[in-house]
Amino acid sequence: MAAPATTLVRQCLAVLFLFAILVSSTCGSLARSRKSATIKEINRNGPYVGLITVYAPEENAFFASKAFKSHPKHPFVDLAGRRYRVGEVEGSKVIYVRCGIGLVNAAATTQQMVDVFEISGIVHFGIAGNANSSMSIGDVVIPKQFVQTGLWDWLKPNATVDSSDFGEMDIGEYNVKGKGKGMNVLGKIGYFTEQFYSETGKPNQPQRLIWFPTTPHWLHLASQKLQGMKLERCVNASLCLETEPKLVVGLNGSTADAFVDNAAYRDFLFNTFHVSSLDMESSAIVMTSLSNDYAVIVIRGLSDLAGAQQGDNHIKLFGPLAATNTAKAVIQFLKISQQQNNLHSS
Ligand SMILES: *[C@@H]1O[C@H](CO)[C@@H](O)[C@H](O)[C@H]1NC(C)=O
Ligand SMILES: *[C@@H]1O[C@H](CO)[C@@H](O)[C@H](O)[C@H]1NC(C)=O
Ligand SMILES: *[C@@H]1O[C@H](CO)[C@@H](O)[C@H](O)[C@H]1NC(C)=O
Ligand SMILES: *[C@@H]1O[C@H](CO)[C@@H](O)[C@H](O)[C@H]1NC(C)=O
Repeated sequence: MAAPATTLVRQCLAVLFLFAILVSSTCGSLARSRKSATIKEINRNGPYVGLITVYAPEENAFFASKAFKSHPKHPFVDLAGRRYRVGEVEGSKVIYVRCGIGLVNAAATTQQMVDVFEISGIVHFGIAGNANSSMSIGDVVIPKQFVQTGLWDWLKPNATVDSSDFGEMDIGEYNVKGKGKGMNVLGKIGYFTEQFYSETGKPNQPQRLIWFPTTPHWLHLASQKLQGMKLERCVNASLCLETEPKLVVGLNGSTADAFVDNAAYRDFLFNTFHVSSLDMESSAIVMTSLSNDYAVIVIRGLSDLAGAQQGDNHIKLFGPLAATNTAKAVIQFLKISQQQNNLHSS
């Protein structure tokens, strides 16, 4: 039997509950409208170059350079859990964000950057694995194009790979001789193309693409003005690279949601797709920028040999040096592109 007092308590609780929802949703929408007023004001001061890194070591090296000057009134806006920092580097207005590891984070952040802010183009930077034996740890690459090597048809051992796939790996070919038990049941992997939707294409009719090119005039500027720039050789007084690091423009890069620390797979990627750098974000950032018709360039410092080393991966030892060299190249790129803009507008 329910006493009338209990019913009253229940009704009171219900009213309180509704009130709480009302207050929290009002506060939520107030906060949102304050945020959008801030974004409007930031955008009035645009356009900005969008800078995207991936994780803390890259961010730390960039801020350690002290090149970034925070906007005095609106230093940042937080969106979907990421902090977009507003400021200037070498006279270029920039909005900087760290996207987090992997293709989903990379694509989501790029799309949000161009949707929300007044952006003139995207400069993506970070560190990467080195798949090319003619390159060294500490070198910086500014690739011409990226391929996504993580979209797979995973097939039975005796299957024929689809003719539209652009690459094939037969896992059985990697059995250790004398120890293998014949054909490997993991079978075969066929590499398939991205579906590329774009402003410039027909709606809902994606193109099937393998390569995603970075913006030619930015690449040209980099090859004219950055190649030959001086990079750091030492982590500290006792740990230095064997050779002077170099910056190379125009190679191919590969992206997939996999950290490669395996010599056989590294060599497969180099031999099959002629890629020099291996990372987990670039192709997504380039593809999303191109979809939305924005200029994009990628600057990646080589931090490790992706499994070709003896013993432990070198990313812990040389990651910070690779990130420092990357930040140097990015700052120099912003400087020269700003000078070029001034040249064109005067
Ligand atoms: C694959 O083909 C070989 C040779 O034709 C055959 O011996 C083997 O049983 C086949 N394996 C599978 C998993 O179908
Ligand atoms: C230099 O860096 C390496 C790797 O981080 C470290 O093991 C070593 O102790 C450092 N040496 C000096 C002199 O700081
Ligand atoms: C990049 O890839 C393309 C397509 O596979 C190839 O033609 C080109 O030679 C590669 N570039 C380099 C520098 O290896
Ligand atoms: C490997 O790096 C060297 C030196 O930068 C470059 O000349 C060569 O084209 C690269 N190879 C491929 C397949 O990209």
